[in-house]
Amino acid sequence: MAYDFELGKSGRTLVRDILEVEEGDNVVITADTNSNKEVVKATASEVFTAGGKPMVVWNPTPEGVGKAADPMLPQKTLAGALKEADVWIEYNEQWLLYSTVYDKVIEASDDIRYICLVEMNPDMMVRTIGRVDMPKLAEFLKIVAKETGEAEEVRVTTPAGTDLEFENHPERDMIVHSGDIMRGKSSMLPGQISWSPKFESINGKLVFDGSLVPPVGLIDTPIEMTIEAGKVVEIEGGTEAKQFEKWLASFDDENMYRLAHISYGFNPGAKLTGNIVEDERIWGGTEWGLGNVGSKLVPEQEGGIPASSHCDGICTDSSVWLDGKQLLDEGEIVNFSRLVELADQLL
Ligand SMILES: [Fe+2]
Repeated sequence: MAYDFELGKSGRTLVRDILEVEEGDNVVITADTNSNKEVVKATASEVFTAGGKPMVVWNPTPEGVGKAADPMLPQKTLAGALKEADVWIEYNEQWLLYSTVYDKVIEASDDIRYICLVEMNPDMMVRTIGRVDMPKLAEFLKIVAKETGEAEEVRVTTPAGTDLEFENHPERDMIVHSGDIMRGKSSMLPGQISWSPKFESINGKLVFDGSLVPPVGLIDTPIEMTIEAGKVVEIEGGTEAKQFEKWLASFDDENMYRLAHISYGFNPGAKLTGNIVEDERIWGGTEWGLGNVGSKLVPEQEGGIPASSHCDGICTDSSVWLDGKQLLDEGEIVNFSRLVELADQLL
């Protein structure tokens, strides 16, 4: 019964406002045996109502994500169906994103509308999609991305003790997940902006107090890191800090200690649950990734910056200054009048 009445509205926002499904569109919804059936059914039903042709592809849950899922997937048939799709909605718990099937589909199709919605459930869908004014959120995120991208120097602090400064890199784009679907590329749940600054300019204290995935999940005792020239040089805290230290060391890979990106979280309905897809969108939070850097984040470096793995940690209630002008004060938008106005309407 969970959100039985409201789920249809969330499906409608996703199908019509975000994916812009039209009459005759072939829409493939992929899922595995751990995906939420109610979410899949509500979405397929909305596709049908919008005049699209829904097809649901359900497979056993692989024991790994991305390329680790390859051996367990019906690769030929899956890729065959998806290559011909106008729209692909991914609800797989063990995601297909970055699998060989995904690479083939994106390579074959310049204008596919693809969205990755890992671990979606009715509660999360209602909060992060159904109740969100998507056009307003898109306007808000575009302004934040523009203001942040134009700044040369950024400072980020949090009540938990983060205090970092860095310089932005002129050649690197802000990657905005705004709910405006990007054709032929991967789109994610709306409410996030990611970018990679000049790594060697990042210095100070970084304290994860929300969640860290992998290897920790929700954090009880904040994990404090000393950052020098974009690298973690010391880790302090409790048992979770020790767990993290061990995990990083297990790769025997210097690049695992490198900061890879920072992200803003700005989905009005997101809350801290331990599901990183939602945690990294908590309003007014910042997130840092460590390890592998994808080529979208560092377009000037062919193939990105490889590392054995990647993890993301959350700093809640962030304060942010752009060239000395404050944008966020402990998670609240300040100073930028249009953004303050939009935030008031969104929250
Ligand atoms: Fe990341």
